[in-house]
Amino acid sequence: MKKFSWILPIALFAACAGREEQTAQQQDYHEPHRPQVHFSPKRGWMNDPNGMVYFNGTYHLFFQHNPDSTVWGPMHWGHATSKDLVHWAEQPIALYPDSLGTIFSGSAVVDANNTTGFGKQGQIPLVAIFTHHNTAGEKAGRADFQTQSLAYSVDEGKTWTKYSGNPVLRNPGIRDFRDPKVSWFEPGKNWIMTLATSDHISFYSSPNLKDWTKESEFGKEMGAHGGVWECPDLFTLDYKGEKIWVLVVNLNPGGPNQGSATQYFTGQFDGHRFTPNHTGTKWLDYGPDEYAGITWSNTGDRKIFLGWMSNWQYAGVVPTGKWRSALTIPRELGLEKTGNDYLVVSRPVKELDLLAEKSATLSNITATTIDLTQKTGKLSGPARIDITSDKLESFTLTLSNDAGEKLLIGYDKAANNYFIDRRMAGEVQFEKGFAAKHTAPRFTGRDPVDLTLILDNASVELFADGGLTVMTEIFFPQSPFSSIRLQSGNRFKIKSLQVSPMKSSWQ
Ligand code: FRU
Repeated sequence: MKKFSWILPIALFAACAGREEQTAQQQDYHEPHRPQVHFSPKRGWMNDPNGMVYFNGTYHLFFQHNPDSTVWGPMHWGHATSKDLVHWAEQPIALYPDSLGTIFSGSAVVDANNTTGFGKQGQIPLVAIFTHHNTAGEKAGRADFQTQSLAYSVDEGKTWTKYSGNPVLRNPGIRDFRDPKVSWFEPGKNWIMTLATSDHISFYSSPNLKDWTKESEFGKEMGAHGGVWECPDLFTLDYKGEKIWVLVVNLNPGGPNQGSATQYFTGQFDGHRFTPNHTGTKWLDYGPDEYAGITWSNTGDRKIFLGWMSNWQYAGVVPTGKWRSALTIPRELGLEKTGNDYLVVSRPVKELDLLAEKSATLSNITATTIDLTQKTGKLSGPARIDITSDKLESFTLTLSNDAGEKLLIGYDKAANNYFIDRRMAGEVQFEKGFAAKHTAPRFTGRDPVDLTLILDNASVELFADGGLTVMTEIFFPQSPFSSIRLQSGNRFKIKSLQVSPMKSSWQ
């Protein structure tokens, strides 16, 4: 009897506590504007994705994080993990500011050969290479306040130790000297660091991640220079058996639709220098809300890209509650060739299908105006919309809610542009440039056409023509968009239009 008198209250307490935790978890991720199929931090500020590395079946995602405020401040590395790239669990903060500075952006690698010696007795270390930002040095007017440092983990990313020899790369006197992206260069059997150094990229090499030698510089007279170069990446993509190097360079401001954006160069890298095969500027995403995007390391030939879904122009004033900003859908990168030009294509990762619910498909539609939700049912949450047509013509897809707010997405044949217009999509007053219509070129005359939209509570991502044109936009309606209307000239014949509601990834 005595036993039972204790067990019951304990069991009841445990059940209640469990329920409370569950409710807290649900509330945490279901506030107004909270993305349901995109990663966002429970609370506080987030900007760039950092240190993305795949190890032993887990995708690690670190991120620029100010846990105590919803505006940018002393940077930490937040941490989240996932087995499938769509369901994320936030983990304890991985890296805290220390006497060398706050923790700016960087990357992480699997040091499989234990070149650092951080692994003991056969352990394989995960090594993070990041920028230490020394605010005191900056305030004192010095130019050398950003340096590169290491931290390592020998327990699969659970705990991190800063290297006692930090910084491993001192600053030669360049104010913007940051965001190291490190990868293993097999032909040279060494590490290559791609570093953003103000208006160009600097490449360094190292046998052990601790001792670095400068190899070369790239880009002073190449690409877009409307702002400072940040968060680079360097990797290869396969084009029909041919290995093409891609150098990603984020830029702020100076993007194609204002503010922050991601440009890239295609070319060759020989372990010492990068030689581009073009001089013009190429953008990975034309929308205003993909920035600081880079790829996961240790994913073999598969290249998975993830960006911050905001823009420095207004990131600190967007109308969300206890957290600020989300990341894009992870995207798989590939290459296409148009003429002599290689273009990077991005598509939502196939794992996103894990969230798909039963879809409604309409076939062979020709109509000037059609309320699609009469046929597919109203949306009650995030959704994926896939459209195919044998021939692309001008059209506008209007997403709207009961408050009459609307987002327009479409294609303008005369201008040969895709567009997204968020001027009437809800709250826009918080920043003067936010209410805008954005455009992106179509890169192919090829038909048939395919378009994919990933719609969440506060964002849409457009992937057109197999991912040749990509646009990411955020918006803040009073309630999520639930109706879809299509307008077009009667020449636009849609072969299939599929609306797939998506489950929340937080459930
Ligand atoms: C890019 C960036 C990086 C820097 C980090 C600071 O958004 O400015 O260059 O490391 O954010 O939070």
